[in-house]
Amino acid sequence: MSNYHIKNLEEYFQVYRKSVREPEKFWQEVAEEHFVWRKKWDNVLSWDFSKPEVKWFENAKLNITENCIDRHLLAQGDKTAIIWEPNDPKEEALHLSYSELHKKVNQFANVLKDNGIQKGDKVCIYLPMIPELAYAVLACARIGAIHSVVFAGFSASALATRTLDADCKMMITSDGSFRGDKKIDLKGIVDKALEDCPDVETVLVAKRTGADINMKEGRDKWLEPLMEKAADNCKPEIMDAEDPLFILYTSGSTGKPKGMLHTTAGYMVYTAYTFKNIFNYQNDDVYWCTADIGWITGHSYIVYGPLLNGATTLMFEGVPSYPDFGRFWEIVEKHKVNQFYTAPTAIRALAKKNLDFVDKYDLSSLKVLGTVGEPINEEAWHWYDNHIGKNKSPIVDTWWQTETGGIMISPIPFATPTKPTFATLPFPGIQPVLMDEVGKEITGNQVDGRLCIKFPWPSMARTIYGNHDRYRDTYFSAYKDKYFTGDGALRDETGYYRITGRVDDVIIVSGHNLGTAPIEDAINEHPAVAESAVVGFPHEVKGNALYGFVILKESGESRNQDNLRKEINQQIADKIGPIAKPDKIQFVEGLPKTRSGKIMRRILRKIASHDISDLGDTSTLLNPEVVDEIIEGINNN
Ligand code: WT7
Repeated sequence: MSNYHIKNLEEYFQVYRKSVREPEKFWQEVAEEHFVWRKKWDNVLSWDFSKPEVKWFENAKLNITENCIDRHLLAQGDKTAIIWEPNDPKEEALHLSYSELHKKVNQFANVLKDNGIQKGDKVCIYLPMIPELAYAVLACARIGAIHSVVFAGFSASALATRTLDADCKMMITSDGSFRGDKKIDLKGIVDKALEDCPDVETVLVAKRTGADINMKEGRDKWLEPLMEKAADNCKPEIMDAEDPLFILYTSGSTGKPKGMLHTTAGYMVYTAYTFKNIFNYQNDDVYWCTADIGWITGHSYIVYGPLLNGATTLMFEGVPSYPDFGRFWEIVEKHKVNQFYTAPTAIRALAKKNLDFVDKYDLSSLKVLGTVGEPINEEAWHWYDNHIGKNKSPIVDTWWQTETGGIMISPIPFATPTKPTFATLPFPGIQPVLMDEVGKEITGNQVDGRLCIKFPWPSMARTIYGNHDRYRDTYFSAYKDKYFTGDGALRDETGYYRITGRVDDVIIVSGHNLGTAPIEDAINEHPAVAESAVVGFPHEVKGNALYGFVILKESGESRNQDNLRKEINQQIADKIGPIAKPDKIQFVEGLPKTRSGKIMRRILRKIASHDISDLGDTSTLLNPEVVDEIIEGINNN
């Protein structure tokens, strides 16, 4: 029996049981079946969650790009590896074959080398969704450089923080980007960020918008001429299984972003195997994930997972609303997309529009639909099922995280019966448990608790770059010998999981993971602000929106409150990015605090949600009187 592709529920249970009983044997078989190794491992797994230390496929040697590209050249060099659909539908789409991708990546890898990048160096990539983004990622992996992709919607200040934290020597960017009818000056943002990053020696600039930009002598270089001159063959660097592959930042509950570090072999095996099974990818299919490569979804399921399977993966530069709200469906028809993977927030936004935007297009190519990033509500699930999948395409509700590297809980299409709002069953090799608040495992079904994973899986992050203690404290100290996800979940009577949302100070807004702490830091930097607290409240399209409660230094501040709100929002946009701007900002005299001075966010969350009938016991607060004052002020903002 081939382990690689699970075809029905019975087989899923068989494979799952094996993966739990004999995890090492199980993963060894998956790893042997489908990859090119320069040297096999001496040991499949060693682990200790108390340190924490996890090693998969120890001492194996490989290069992931050899598995993503070279391996496919002989059998399917002419097959399309990447379809690139530009922002403007009138511009021609690009169909890049595996051989052409090979050439681009090799040239790019040589450009990196010619500019002093070696194995182990860190390279920051700040690019829009243009083909060069995929080339850049793979070129780094080709030579063993560690990529750190920063989503090109982040501000100069956020880019600088990440560039510094990851010790990047090089920046790869473009002259600008197109997003709908907007043109964005990416290079200007980079220039500003690099004022604070003296260690960045070289900036490679891809041409996209043709904007007139500033090129700093000796530092900035246009990419195209270098690519043209570069040799199109670059020997892959032979990497150790546990050599770092990339760093990717995610928000946390303190101000500083966490640079999750992923390594090579385990990440490769897991993303490849999940992609094949969860999207039921068949040889001639066209697969499209609408995420940005700046997020983990794009790393694992636009670039690595699909290419490792020799798939055709579609990259879209634009936004779902341009030139109109039918754009996604137009692309599905145009490229005959078979698997479509998007976020609940996009589904909710599109479901609010006229159905004509959908019905105009032929969506009959679709076979599997996916969602990721936040819980999907029942209404959105049914809209997706009825109008996009026409009730014949299973929806895979995939739960996972930047930290997990790959999908952890998800139906397997045509095997696992789906259930609206449920991510259903753990993928083979994943052992979820629910824990109560005092550290006891909650067994049985029809229960809820905090979601933990009790056994390592190949694509888990190995550390937070530069801060292993924080890695241990954040993920491995809440529950002994378990990885704590930060999410709450329930398990229904059949053992299906439903993720109910974050139980920590992270808020998912439109599928973006935002920590409250960095947003509060940005607000507090405004000279008029004394203190602030940011909480989430339910939002029809975004899932959650942000609500900021702000205390001003001078109470009854005479300045115009609307202007202050604008300034605070601008400050957040500058420090983090526009996605972190609160929908509401309310100026208050005080924040509800416990006697030890901790802000009672639970109360603020209820107020922000206009759910004030039962605020629980407020008498133990240090300052119970502020609660009424805040409630009275709700409507004045
Ligand atoms: C958090 C991780 C992993 C890709 C994108 C987000 C939430 C993710 C689901 C889902 C309910 C989900 C969780 C998780 N989340 N997928 N299918 N159902 N919640 O990655 O930015 O690292 O965020 O997203 O809260 O912890 P991320």
